[in-house]
Amino acid sequence: MSEPWLVADGLSLAYGRTTVVHDVDLALGDGDTLGIVGESGSGKSTLARALLGLLPPSGGTVSFSGTPLGRLSRAERGEYRRSVQPVFQDGVETLDPRMTIGDSIAEGLRGGRAARDARVRELLADVGLDPRSHPGLAQRRPHELSGGQRQRVGIARALAVEPRLLVLDEPTSALDVTVQARIIELLDRLRAERGLALVLITHDLAVVDRLCERSLVMYDGRVVERGRTRDLLTRPEHPYTRRLRAAVPELGGGIPEVQPLP
Ligand SMILES: Nc1ncnc2c1ncn2[C@@H]1O[C@H](COP(=O)(O)OP(=O)(O)OP(=O)(O)O)[C@@H](O)[C@H]1O
Ligand SMILES: [Mg+2]
Repeated sequence: MSEPWLVADGLSLAYGRTTVVHDVDLALGDGDTLGIVGESGSGKSTLARALLGLLPPSGGTVSFSGTPLGRLSRAERGEYRRSVQPVFQDGVETLDPRMTIGDSIAEGLRGGRAARDARVRELLADVGLDPRSHPGLAQRRPHELSGGQRQRVGIARALAVEPRLLVLDEPTSALDVTVQARIIELLDRLRAERGLALVLITHDLAVVDRLCERSLVMYDGRVVERGRTRDLLTRPEHPYTRRLRAAVPELGGGIPEVQPLP
């Protein structure tokens, strides 16, 4: 494991007076892959929001390179914002419906028009939407794409600023299995090729097993089990993890194969 640079220490999170996440510790460095699983309402998205700096802790800290988020200098804050990028379900929340796909991706890019256009084409190709095989796609608006294409555009947009970590909240749950498999393949390739770190929230244990070295299981706002994903899946200790696993019949007989990108 590499040196962790995003660290949650005794992190608690509340909405108003109601604490919904209690005392979470985690540490992420380049190339680290962490799955977060747990039932609906257990606090997964809330934890993701805090890692993205969108929700201040009610207790404990989230630190970037050793400094609590609330105490980052302006320059450090800018670096943190670029380093940690969100990807939400099927790209709807992250893409402006009025902007073309190309402009949405180019928003975070610097440089002249030609250089930015070239980079947009590169990013689209990275996510399997090469403009040569998808002519005109960059000129369309989000509603003129399929859900899976939108999701890949959301990832391209997140990658434009060259983040070190993607926080993905159920990135594939709205997609059919073929598209889901392509996105999983893409994320795995980005991790392998550039050491991109991933925090992946999902209900799908097969996806976590495929992408995440380590996982934690949340139940009622607390981390009830954590460790290497394979160990959690093969030897679940907490009753909740056992139930989760029992609900995924494929895990009994091995993990479904993922098709590579065409
Ligand atoms: N903006 C909010 N204001 C008040 N309470 C909230 C807010 N967002 C979430 N909650 C509550 O916080 C708890 C944790 O919610 P969270 O969205 O983190 O769960 P989750 O694990 O992501 O669930 P799901 O799997 O359904 O997405 C829930 O009890 C939820 O009702
Ligand atoms: Mg959620």
